[in-house]
Amino acid sequence: MNNPYRPIKTEVLDVITETSNIKTLRLKPVEPIEFRAGQFIELTVPGVGEAPFTPSSRSSVKDMMEVTVMKVGKVTEKIHELKKGDTVGLRGPLGKGYPLEDFRNKEILVVGGGCGLAPLRALMYELFENIGDFKKVIYRGGCKTPQDFLYKKEINEWKKEHKSVDMRLTVDKGDPTWKENVGVVTTIMDGISMDCKNGIGIVCGPPIAMKYATMKLLDMGFQDENIYLSMEKNMSCGIGKCGHCRIGIYYACKDGPVFKYSQIKNYHEIWD
Ligand SMILES: Cc1cc2nc3c(=O)[nH]c(=O)nc-3n(C[C@H](O)[C@H](O)[C@H](O)COP(=O)(O)OP(=O)(O)OC[C@H]3O[C@@H](n4cnc5c(N)ncnc54)[C@H](O)[C@@H]3O)c2cc1C
Ligand code: FES
Repeated sequence: MNNPYRPIKTEVLDVITETSNIKTLRLKPVEPIEFRAGQFIELTVPGVGEAPFTPSSRSSVKDMMEVTVMKVGKVTEKIHELKKGDTVGLRGPLGKGYPLEDFRNKEILVVGGGCGLAPLRALMYELFENIGDFKKVIYRGGCKTPQDFLYKKEINEWKKEHKSVDMRLTVDKGDPTWKENVGVVTTIMDGISMDCKNGIGIVCGPPIAMKYATMKLLDMGFQDENIYLSMEKNMSCGIGKCGHCRIGIYYACKDGPVFKYSQIKNYHEIWD
């Protein structure tokens, strides 16, 4: 059996600057890694440490993976200094991703904000590749400013390629270049026409955005068990041994990071 603590040697194929504090790394592990959208990996920078990230790339591509990383501290600063040709370590995939098989024949509303658009990019690729399986797919994404908007160009391409998918974007603070909505992400959840009672709601983003988007979904009539949240708790082992990532009776690393709202709604720490 593979040692779950052993990182796989991984080459940095490319580094893409997304915004002033976010970069996407294109990675090639020496062994192909199969993941599903919503699962995470632990990325090790030799001599510095490791940190969890959710792949943002297409899960159907097995020999290459992208992670989109916001610079916030020690490990992520070093990740931002990596260059093409450098070597890192990668453990995973870890945890549970989005159960696409449970979404078949349903209407799906995907809501994301900020760095939460990274895991949702992997999810959108999976939805696009299987679009005939779902009754309807709706995407709502928000960021602070147009300059902070992850994958803005790519999402605009999606709009042209996938006309059946209703996509809208918003920023908290606009500028003259911004032609779409201005306001927090919940403002573009108004007026959505879908079967909320039986629909699937997927939310990923900073805790405050997840809280208000979840409340909005509940107001719209979504059921607790049909709302999926991606929980970013402090992690260490990543495999359910150390207890760092506890949410009530659950370990976010092993039982999540994707949870149904009905599983965790009674634990006050979910929005911390
Ligand atoms: C399952 C999972 C998936 C994740 N996926 C992604 C991803 O795809 N992309 C990504 O950029 N991040 C992701 N994160 C968050 C990422 O793991 C942390 O940002 C990272 O571990 C920080 O490590 P550090 O050593 O750079 O910061 P540290 O030195 O540990 O922290 C520095 C400071 O930043 C604060 N901080 C830590 N994390 C965050 C954060 N997320 N946002 C704001 N402030 C923070 C800390 O409280 C501390 O004050 C994910 C986390 C989890 C648990
Ligand atoms: S990170 Fe160790 S139990 Fe979850």
